[in-house]
Amino acid sequence: MPSFRVETPQRAYDAIVERGALRRTAEFLPKRAGKIFIVTNHDVWNLHGAILCHGLGDRQPEVLFLPPGESRKRIAEVETLAERMVAAGGDRASVVIAFGGGIVNDVGGFLAAIFMRGVPVIQVPTTLLAQVDAAVGGKTGVNLVSGKNLLGSFHQPLVVLIDPDVLTTLPEREYRAGLYEIIKCGVIRDAGLFRLLDQCAPSVLAQEPATVERIIAAAVRIKAEVVSADEREGDLRRILNFGHTVGHALEAETQYSKFLHGEAVAFGMRAATELARRTGDLASSDAQTIQSVIGKYGPIPRLEGVTAQQLVGRLAVDKKTLHGKVHFVLPVKIGDVKIVSGVEDCVVIESIEAVLA
Ligand SMILES: NC(=O)c1ccc[n+]([C@@H]2O[C@H](COP(=O)([O-])OP(=O)(O)OC[C@H]3O[C@@H](n4cnc5c(N)ncnc54)[C@H](O)[C@@H]3O)[C@@H](O)[C@H]2O)c1
Ligand SMILES: [Zn+2]
Repeated sequence: MPSFRVETPQRAYDAIVERGALRRTAEFLPKRAGKIFIVTNHDVWNLHGAILCHGLGDRQPEVLFLPPGESRKRIAEVETLAERMVAAGGDRASVVIAFGGGIVNDVGGFLAAIFMRGVPVIQVPTTLLAQVDAAVGGKTGVNLVSGKNLLGSFHQPLVVLIDPDVLTTLPEREYRAGLYEIIKCGVIRDAGLFRLLDQCAPSVLAQEPATVERIIAAAVRIKAEVVSADEREGDLRRILNFGHTVGHALEAETQYSKFLHGEAVAFGMRAATELARRTGDLASSDAQTIQSVIGKYGPIPRLEGVTAQQLVGRLAVDKKTLHGKVHFVLPVKIGDVKIVSGVEDCVVIESIEAVLA
């Protein structure tokens, strides 16, 4: 089964895509590891905790539960977890295992980044989105009232264990939300992956095991390559934000309650694709193909009540606004994108309106 090397200035590590990877978690613990702390939530633990425990052999982990939901991705929860670590005998030799979806990966990773100035973390993502995106790359953090992911740190894991077996219990909507991030990978860097998602949609949607493994591996390979070339979001890492400029605006405008992250990104990819067509950067035929593939993995919730003007208003405050400019990642062909800024608001509004219609 494939393993992808992530090489960053902070650390080099593997992202391993392997059925049953959970069962050999102990192999990846540092030799002198102290107490093991698993950060998870009750749902994930009830479904898959026993397998992870089995994978830790004779190590007796301390399990720390994070209450569910984006609203609990806050510094207060990190503090609570850190106090529990100290109470349970945590020290600088402790190791954190972040075992859950993107929220757990982000909070568990951030806890590890700052606990006693930093202890190692093993990322064990259990949603498709977290497997192909959140768990690889070392971004960790929590939300502020004023915005998402505004407190955080780069803390690269010891290893990322991606076990497709855990996805069998994932709600179908969460699975599809993760698929949109894989479509993103195809558009930005891998025409072959994109073709697979186009031609094999029924087996992707039916979670045919070999197909699921292939698309996860393809997406993780891309994430690993991009992060290795650019750990801290310079130009290359920003290509991963295809669909995210408008996607983030949509999530914020709907108070993070109506759309799953991947669904908002799907809408954002539609808008960016239409924008690229209008600016002449992308051929109409390619634009149509991208729209059609996104459509195959729908539906996403309707945008009732959200206007293009509102979304464009949000873009200005998005943290990806650099030097006062909004950046868009625009496809130039399937498998390649470019980053542009300074696009006229009216063209952005027209593109979003076209997609809304
Ligand atoms: N650090 C990064 O680079 C990065 C990248 C993308 C997203 N994120 C963050 O990730 C978060 C979203 O992550 P998410 O989409 O995984 O959502 P999530 O963490 O909320 O998980 C979604 C739901 O699925 C449940 N779940 C998890 N695994 C399951 C399984 N195997 N079976 C059944 N249920 C399961 C969870 O309990 C939760 O209710 C956001 O906070 C976002 O900011 C971070
Ligand atoms: Zn994303």
